[in-house]
Amino acid sequence: MCGIVGYVGRSAATPVLLSGLRRLEYRGYDSAGLSIQEGKSLLSLRAVGKVARLADKVRAEWSEDRQSKCSVGIAHTRWATHGAPTEANAHPHADASGRIRLVHNGIIENYRVIRAKLEAKGHVFSSETDTEAVSRLIGEYYKGDLRKAVISALRQIEGAYGIAVISADEPGRIVVARKGSPLVIGVGEGECLVASDPSALISHTRRVIYLDDGDVALVTADSVDITDLNHAPMDRDVAELEFEAGAVEKGGYAHFMLKEIHEQPESVRNALRGRLDLLNGTAVLSGMGATARELIELQRIVMVGCGTSLHAGMVGDFAFEDLAAIQAEVQPAAEFRYRNPLVDGRDLVVAISQSGETADTLAAVREAKEKGAMVMGLVNVVGSTIAREAGRGVYLHAGPEISVASTKAFTGQVAVLLLMALKLGRGRRLSRERGLALAGEIGRLPELIEAVLKQDSAIAKVAESMAKHEHAFFLGRGPMHPVALEGALKLKEISYIHAEGYHAAELKHGPIALLTPGMPVVVLANRSSVLEKTIGNAEECKARGAHIIAIVTEDGPEVAIADEVIIIPDCDPLIATIPAVVALQLLSYHVARLRGCPIDQPRNLAKSVTVE
Ligand code: G6P
Repeated sequence: MCGIVGYVGRSAATPVLLSGLRRLEYRGYDSAGLSIQEGKSLLSLRAVGKVARLADKVRAEWSEDRQSKCSVGIAHTRWATHGAPTEANAHPHADASGRIRLVHNGIIENYRVIRAKLEAKGHVFSSETDTEAVSRLIGEYYKGDLRKAVISALRQIEGAYGIAVISADEPGRIVVARKGSPLVIGVGEGECLVASDPSALISHTRRVIYLDDGDVALVTADSVDITDLNHAPMDRDVAELEFEAGAVEKGGYAHFMLKEIHEQPESVRNALRGRLDLLNGTAVLSGMGATARELIELQRIVMVGCGTSLHAGMVGDFAFEDLAAIQAEVQPAAEFRYRNPLVDGRDLVVAISQSGETADTLAAVREAKEKGAMVMGLVNVVGSTIAREAGRGVYLHAGPEISVASTKAFTGQVAVLLLMALKLGRGRRLSRERGLALAGEIGRLPELIEAVLKQDSAIAKVAESMAKHEHAFFLGRGPMHPVALEGALKLKEISYIHAEGYHAAELKHGPIALLTPGMPVVVLANRSSVLEKTIGNAEECKARGAHIIAIVTEDGPEVAIADEVIIIPDCDPLIATIPAVVALQLLSYHVARLRGCPIDQPRNLAKSVTVE
């Protein structure tokens, strides 16, 4: 979604801001803009569409010499919520005097009230955004101290925000604040950056300060001074970013998605590193922060998440019930808070999120804490809001995921959920023998994924027939049902083919009416106790002329009705979810490539959904 970058230092600000914005393009956006300080005035440019268009405008309007003298600025990519993606709605927004500029992520819930009050005082708004109410309100309070004005304005505001503000009258300063939308400050040598996402500043510095909700920071080239909304000083640690700048580059791959698919042997290895106890057939997950007794006394596990993370939770559901004999359920995070959930201190609520910033998942974490449940984060981005608010949890260590369509985060999430189920299982009903066998299989995951990746060209061949269709079904049973959902999600996200994931047995209860001759039906037909049933369901499709693409087990039972097959290595049916999903990721990728789609940034989608 929206992205923020700010720079204050001694170099020219515009190239830093533009390259920061490019780093944030993956989050999804539809317009961009920036403002820089030039002596005691401000220069601003905004453009609809890609950052490249904004860069063209910068080149056309500001000479390099002029830019080189401007070393402070803020910039933004906007994903439209209030008002269409027009230049007038793009950020930065100004106050009435035009001497203050602000960029904002999040949603101001009481903006209508503020706007009406300001209009009554004579303000004429130039956009339809909620943001402009904030920039104008700051201007109202401004009496020569930008931070004070920002604090006074924020005290009037309800909703979520990450903001960066500059004033023509305060050269060399950026004021930033956050509540509900992430903001990180990069501390360099004689320069500081601010960003909504560390990937925008990693090429400048690895030293970062994550702001907490309610923090307001005055940032200069050499200092970061943080207070709360009552002006009380706040102490925040400087953390070291774990990943390398190269992790946010394509590294020779045509797309980030392809790179991230191929990184999975390594990312899953990282998720497992030091966590598998192959002597006792269990897992070591110190981040869970629970005593053996607490784990034994757990009555239920409730997983919450959105999109791909929700699907990972659905696989976890099977793992917890099967391996640990503990009641488990998965709820869309967006539903959890509003249904007044039944959870208490004997329940473990696991918030699953790649970004750790998804607004609905964060709201679910807060609700679960409110209700006294034990809460844990299963998060990829270190230092993200969910990771910090959950207080305990397990990081995925998958490295930055840039492609909007999530791949390595899913496999990391499932791998960690399997570890958790193994650990809980060993404390309950799982024998040492079964634990050892499972731990061994989990440890093989990187090589199982490698085996699928080796079939890249065979999968690309299967994609050729699929790419010609506008509809597809994905069918699975048991833990392969969520894999079918995830396969369909991947395909629709990046190829724009209408795809439905279904429980294989459910198809005949309605959706089968949609089958037309030749329609691709992907069937997850790996070795499992329900394989015969799944094949039966596939027969029903075949009888109606469907083109069956079966995901089958190497040297496993034959699926004679399949028109095309993709082979995954033989492994435990729970563990097979990971190689199977990798096959479906590659399939979607190649279909989208053949259809010429913008794979890394599909239309309308955002990487990190920070609004409810
Ligand atoms: C967005 C992304 C999805 C992702 C979902 C949840 O919709 O496009 O790929 O699965 O958010 O994100 P999270 O960061 O919480 O896993």
